[in-house]
Amino acid sequence: MNEAILTLQGKRQLTHDVYELTFSGDTSAITRPGQFVNITVQGHFLRRPISVCDWAENKLVLICRAMGSGTQTLCGSPIGTEFNVLMGLGNGYDVDKALNHKPVLVGGGVGVPPLYALAKAFLAKGVTPTVALGFGSTRELFYEDEFKALGCPVLVSTVDGSYGTKGFVTAVIEQTDCDYALCCGPIPMLKAVDSMAQIVDGQFSFEERMGCGFGACVGCTCKTKYGTKRICKDGPVLCKEEIVW
Ligand SMILES: Cc1cc2nc3c(=O)[nH]c(=O)nc-3n(C[C@H](O)[C@H](O)[C@H](O)COP(=O)(O)OP(=O)(O)OC[C@H]3O[C@@H](n4cnc5c(N)ncnc54)[C@H](O)[C@@H]3O)c2cc1C
Ligand code: FES
Repeated sequence: MNEAILTLQGKRQLTHDVYELTFSGDTSAITRPGQFVNITVQGHFLRRPISVCDWAENKLVLICRAMGSGTQTLCGSPIGTEFNVLMGLGNGYDVDKALNHKPVLVGGGVGVPPLYALAKAFLAKGVTPTVALGFGSTRELFYEDEFKALGCPVLVSTVDGSYGTKGFVTAVIEQTDCDYALCCGPIPMLKAVDSMAQIVDGQFSFEERMGCGFGACVGCTCKTKYGTKRICKDGPVLCKEEIVW
């Protein structure tokens, strides 16, 4: 983990309330897809945790939904704004564990962003993962084209049927022969994927409410089969066999 000053370099509106934010600055502490950063937003005491969507040397891409006051301030910041950011937090996904399987990357809503760097990590190992994206409706859809541009097969579900397959993301996973899920999204989605008979193993990322973000405040503990874990430090990615729902 390190603390860095990042400068907002680019902003792209993806939906009515979701923005892609590109920053410049030291990204050397980021080692794995699925890690997150904890970002200080002006006027807010607690930092806001946001998943790493993509990174390169001196470049960080985040995708943020303008939900409450903190993320609205973040998304509304002008180009050139500087942010104090804790970088390289959390364990991230372990791609090697999935290499002997048929992996599907499963994202719901703002759980989609970390899957982008994860897809790139699989491709770098010579494996093309299937990507299954779930949204409420077509107006919430983002990043389908970006995953396709990587060369991944992309399946989309919407709850209201306005785009792709009608229903939950499990409905599109059923259309594949994938047996290993790497997921990020709301807990009901994670739970539904975990309970699918075809998914024999997987890794699930949890978006718990956080205080410090680096293991010091025990504000994010959860029970697992191997004892209590801190989602920010021991997670946010947990393996299928250790999760207590
Ligand atoms: C590991 C992790 C990765 C995340 N990745 C993303 C991402 O890539 N894109 C994205 O848009 N959002 C992501 N979130 C959710 C994001 O952190 C919250 O939406 C944000 O903190 C809400 O802050 P706010 O000021 O807008 O809302 P408020 O409701 O005003 O926030 C009040 C407090 O609650 C906390 N809080 C509220 N909702 C959440 C939440 N869902 N998760 C954690 N803390 C919350 C805030 O940090 C703050 O301390 C992630 C959360 C976690 C834990
Ligand atoms: S948020 Fe402080 S220990 Fe996890």
